[in-house]
Amino acid sequence: MRKPVIGGNWKMNKTPQEGVELVAELRDDLGDMADVEVIICPPYPALLPIGSELAGGNIKLGAQDLYWEKEGAFTGQVSPGMLRACGCQYVIIGHSERRHVFGETDAQVAKKVRAALDEGLKPILCVGELLAEREVGETEIVVKRQLEAALAGVRGEEISTLVIAYEPVWAIGTGRASTAEDAQDVAHFIRRTLAGLYDREKSEAVRIQYGGSVKPENVKFYLAEADIDGALVGGASLKAAVFAQLIRNSTGR
Ligand code: 13P
Repeated sequence: MRKPVIGGNWKMNKTPQEGVELVAELRDDLGDMADVEVIICPPYPALLPIGSELAGGNIKLGAQDLYWEKEGAFTGQVSPGMLRACGCQYVIIGHSERRHVFGETDAQVAKKVRAALDEGLKPILCVGELLAEREVGETEIVVKRQLEAALAGVRGEEISTLVIAYEPVWAIGTGRASTAEDAQDVAHFIRRTLAGLYDREKSEAVRIQYGGSVKPENVKFYLAEADIDGALVGGASLKAAVFAQLIRNSTGR
């Protein structure tokens, strides 16, 4: 049985103080949500205070990116060990904004996935096609290429620690969410690809999220699909009451 997993990707929003207030409100609102795993992914400066605020509770902390080296002359970068020291258990890797705004390559994504695993961080690996790629029927080609590249260094016994987030780029921040059926088709394709790279049993253990304009009103339709085990949420994770409602709706409460 795969446990549902809802991530809040704050992107470049919230000061440390605003972030601490948000998670305190969220924790009080949600109480003990044992049937869904909730992961908050704030910007780097907010990780440490939010990590302290969340310590001992069941809301988990994740970062939005990392660099693959352990330390050294890499101005502006943050290492896997630094994220662990802030209390992170998860890290988003290969988000479409990293790929398309900052030019991150499949090879760099692969190095980041490997570095995260080596430090005991669980990658939330993002894959997804551009609108132009979908329109010419290349969604599966793109997603397969991204998966094969990112997972090249991941061993069979490690694969179930990853979360794969399917985020079609055209659905992110646009209000134009994928239909649940289309998202399910790609999630199923992702699981089949994993079965090919590893085996069927291992692929069944991996949690797959949908991301792209997920709101309290539509989250349950995605979670109802056979291969979708959660959501990666941007805009709707920035207000505690909205995100709490989204989380409750994801489990049908
Ligand atoms: P929105 O929920 O704002 O569309 O963002 C999705 C996303 O990119 C999460 O990583």
